[in-house]
Amino acid sequence: MVPDLLKLQEHYAVAPSDISLAHIDLEHMPRHISIIMDGNGRWAQAQGLDRSKGHKAGVVSLKEIITSCVRLGIDVLSAYAFSTENWQRPQHEVDLLMQLFAHTLVKELHLFEEENVKLVFLGDVAALPKKTRETFELGLERTKNNTGMVLALAVNYGARAELTRAVRLIAQETAAKTLALDDIDETLVSENLYTTGLPDPELLIRTSGELRLSNFLLWQLAYTEFYITDTLWPDFDRWELLRAIASFQLRDRRFGGVKS
Ligand code: IPE
Ligand code: IPE
Ligand code: MG
Repeated sequence: MVPDLLKLQEHYAVAPSDISLAHIDLEHMPRHISIIMDGNGRWAQAQGLDRSKGHKAGVVSLKEIITSCVRLGIDVLSAYAFSTENWQRPQHEVDLLMQLFAHTLVKELHLFEEENVKLVFLGDVAALPKKTRETFELGLERTKNNTGMVLALAVNYGARAELTRAVRLIAQETAAKTLALDDIDETLVSENLYTTGLPDPELLIRTSGELRLSNFLLWQLAYTEFYITDTLWPDFDRWELLRAIASFQLRDRRFGGVKS
């Protein structure tokens, strides 16, 4: 998407000393940026606060990054909000997160409308508590005609569950003889994932320093560039995003070939 330069410069005014818009090549932006938003709990604990405060601060970060990505002309922003493994957390934390998702979605509908953001979900959202599910449906409905950035929120998402689901969907079609074995190719597998229709991420950001994927987008990240920062998610801001993009733009992406 072509960025609105005036709005972009306004958003990125008052730069810190090490990074500014001048470090970024707007002609070579990643189309799809994906983020594992990690470290909310540690951020809260470091300040003697309850983990819930960390999750609330995480929402503030996500809002800033959504706006920054829109300003930068990014086509797709995907963000890991709740994994299939996160159900193992204490019930009160799971409940809090589900309430926070529902509350935030309703509260921020105006942001999606103002910024022309189209919302999609990655994951088994049908299995979420009713209230959360209903607000997600409202978000989908209210943003379905928006033509700007796609915000793909991964909630109750696990890559292994996603791939297992794709195998089942394809197997059903072959069993029904509506699909021949020879028709199963990489494109068909991609089309049966939650990310169907979206380009693969070029840049994956993980905050809080963990060097793992935690079951996120195993298929889609095959050739993605990784950017891991020790910054905890509630401290990740528009400048951190620029640092990640600047790092991405220095990479030599060979895709198994040789340097061009
Ligand atoms: C990420 O922060 C948010 C979710 C997984 C919902 P964490 O809650 O994992 O924070 P840490 O990793 O415990 O610091
Ligand atoms: C990954 O973070 C999931 C999300 C950010 C939603 P976790 O905190 O759940 O991952 P692990 O447990 O450190 O691998
Ligand atoms: Mg974590």
